[in-house]
Amino acid sequence: MVVKFYGGETVPLEMHKVRVVQKLTLAPIEDRLAAIAAAGNNTFLLQNRDIFMDMLTDSGVNAMSDRQMAAMMVADDSYAGSATYEKFAAKLVELFGMAFILPTHQGRACENILSQVLVKPGMIVPMNYHFTTTKAHIVLNGGTVEEIPHDRGLEVTSTHPFKGDMDIAKLEALVATHGAEKIAFVRMEAGTNLIGGQPISIANLREIRAACDTHGMLFVLDASLLADNLWFNKTREDSCKDLSIAAITRQIADLCDVIYFSARKLGCARGGAICIRSEELYRKMRVLVPLYEGFLTYGGMSVREIEALTVGLEETMDVDMISQGPLFIDYMVRELDKRGVPVITPPGGLGCHIDVMRFLPHIPQSQYPAGALASALFIASGIRGMERGSLSEQRNPDGTEVYSNMELLRLAMPRRVFTLSQVKYAIDRIDWLYQNRDLIGGLVFVEEPEILRFFYGRLDPLGDWQQTLAAKFRADFGDSL
Ligand code: F0G
Repeated sequence: MVVKFYGGETVPLEMHKVRVVQKLTLAPIEDRLAAIAAAGNNTFLLQNRDIFMDMLTDSGVNAMSDRQMAAMMVADDSYAGSATYEKFAAKLVELFGMAFILPTHQGRACENILSQVLVKPGMIVPMNYHFTTTKAHIVLNGGTVEEIPHDRGLEVTSTHPFKGDMDIAKLEALVATHGAEKIAFVRMEAGTNLIGGQPISIANLREIRAACDTHGMLFVLDASLLADNLWFNKTREDSCKDLSIAAITRQIADLCDVIYFSARKLGCARGGAICIRSEELYRKMRVLVPLYEGFLTYGGMSVREIEALTVGLEETMDVDMISQGPLFIDYMVRELDKRGVPVITPPGGLGCHIDVMRFLPHIPQSQYPAGALASALFIASGIRGMERGSLSEQRNPDGTEVYSNMELLRLAMPRRVFTLSQVKYAIDRIDWLYQNRDLIGGLVFVEEPEILRFFYGRLDPLGDWQQTLAAKFRADFGDSL
């Protein structure tokens, strides 16, 4: 919970101590300039050894607890019938109250299985917002995604507590137009990733459940970012104020038919699972697990990860554990906002999202402003973020660009990984960059893969703005790293 400081400062206090560490290095700016050039100005192509703070993602890189590490040592390693798996499945049944569990190697594997079983050509999947891998699997099976967030969900700056909520009127309109039989399932994503880690409310889930009951539709929850969402339910939704995290979890689960998740996020391990209420549906999905994942008692995960995950899921019911990410993100967003840096508000889960359209209004979308800011931030700080803008889109078949609604630089906050002084360093360097934003220029592709270009593509700066930026850094910071 929040601890008040006598001095009145609002500081997120860590409710854990660090007992295993990894050494970091911060290279001089000249070396950072060389490293980003060698990476083709694409942060995915940077080498970890050149990075000071890795804020690319929170996937598979959250810190594990001592209890998780200890659990890994007692794993029951057998291909079939492992006791480790039994413990894992029992934990999920306890938390979500769904009788049937299928293990997978990660989140997108759940999406593959769900889509293969439920999506037929011509079908529609209404959702609050898509995630890249979710959409890819639905489209691969002939379906289409209909994003129906509330209008306020797409407002960059807002005070709305649950920007991830779905617009029920739009759901009803989709059913009226296409018929419920065309709806493969209704999908809600907790901690909605691509709109800035924004949460969903239980009140909204109740409305969706009612619509699903009326029209006989299946309700699926992507719980990958549920931990953050639970904290927001507890602190922003009146009906949850006096409930334990376990009770809130159960209220959410009771409204759904299927829950799946990436355990690279939920449970601070690596893997995934699908929890299913109906035995009939479980049987349909089960046949795909040995085909794509592995046997039913490991699903592509190592038994050591499964042990750690079981403990991680249990620890997710601890309010001190799940508050760390949101509180650190809240601190970072508010401090940047105070300095006038344009950020997505209110603070969500996952990380801090910079609104690049307002940060770099002088760079047209055709010159990838969010990619340019990711490159500039690495030069200025050794911090690696992730471009979430037009560079992450795919060109139209005629070769023209698809410009995204938002140009974001995502700075993920892996949970319990960074200290507050490191977060302060990030805020300071972003502040400096904002004051020097006019020095930042655009990027141009020199190597552009046809598919998923943001993973492998290479870009050049337009002009010598990176050298100018480095020279200004030296002038302002002297011989500092
Ligand atoms: N659903 C959500 C909401 C996610 O954020 C992710 C992954 C997935 C599904 C897919 O899970 O990676 O285990 O296959 N998000 C990562 C990220 C990749 O960086 O935000 P996965």
